Amino acid sequence: MMKGIILAGGSGTRLYPLTLVTSKQLLPVYNKPMIYYPLSTLMLARIKDILIISTPEDTPRIEQLLGDGSAFGLSLSYAVQEKPEGLAQAFIIGKDFIGDDSCAMVLGDNIFYGNGLGHKLMAARKTAEEGSACVFGYYVEDPERFGIMEFTRHDRDADDGAVKITRVEEKPANPKSNYAIAGLYFYPSGVSAKAEQVKPSVRGELEITTLNEMYLEEDRLQGQLLGRGFTWMDAGTFYSLRKATNFVCMIEQYQGMTISAPEEIAYRFGWIDEVKLKESALKYGKSPYGEHLMAVLEGKIVL
Ligand code: DAU
Repeated sequence: MMKGIILAGGSGTRLYPLTLVTSKQLLPVYNKPMIYYPLSTLMLARIKDILIISTPEDTPRIEQLLGDGSAFGLSLSYAVQEKPEGLAQAFIIGKDFIGDDSCAMVLGDNIFYGNGLGHKLMAARKTAEEGSACVFGYYVEDPERFGIMEFTRHDRDADDGAVKITRVEEKPANPKSNYAIAGLYFYPSGVSAKAEQVKPSVRGELEITTLNEMYLEEDRLQGQLLGRGFTWMDAGTFYSLRKATNFVCMIEQYQGMTISAPEEIAYRFGWIDEVKLKESALKYGKSPYGEHLMAVLEGKIVL
């Protein structure tokens, strides 16, 4: 079974004073805590066994919110990252949790949205289960802020977004591609052992891009583009947090429906029953989120 990790640590200094006494990943993105979005993303990949990694201070706060995952039909466990020593460290911290399984990781401040996202994620999952890593490219105007991928399109006719990656680079001064690698990664069995071989970068971190480079060298790195039908954003700065909030608000108002509700996803996948969904709906009470879950329960919203 594929495992999942949500990496929700980091110092959050870019959001001070908001994050002085709380976790960035618990801040609101419109009407729900930020971490609900990456949690929903892993769930759409049908991943039920999830490890949440955060700081010594924030891990208990996140656990207080999400608990053991039974409300979402999930098995959630928690681990601490003492210092933010790099994204690839998550696979070392999660070594026992992952075991011999394949594993996806999503960053706790990354939001993915789009029709057909579940299919896209299931394709990535299959790639990982067959022995290759899979990363997602997304067009950005400021590629120097990200890990980027250079690629050639190998099957334009199939138009499934699959590309052949030729190079990956972390925050290049002169990027040769406008495609950022989004904060969602699928790896095959053995990722922890590989992560242990990653050497710290000049900024002293175990870079996810170095890990991806290792897979590329073995010709085991698949690229998937997230095209115009998808939205990806991180919510780690004031500007991007506001952008994310505006986006979710706009989508929910146009559609008249709540997005990224983990209890709804769990119910639709048959991971929780009516009784459990109703418990959650009542817990959220008169909030629009609670009303949404009630509408799902009553069969008013079917998709
Ligand atoms: O958002 C996608 C980008 O994320 C990728 O394109 C880059 O390749 C990747 O390196 C990463 O870049 P960032 O500069 O955004 O990474 P940052 O240090 O901001 O960390 C991303 C999130 O992960 C942030 O919410 C904090 C958290 N984090 C970070 C580190 C380094 C941890 O929980 N632990 C860590 O050790």
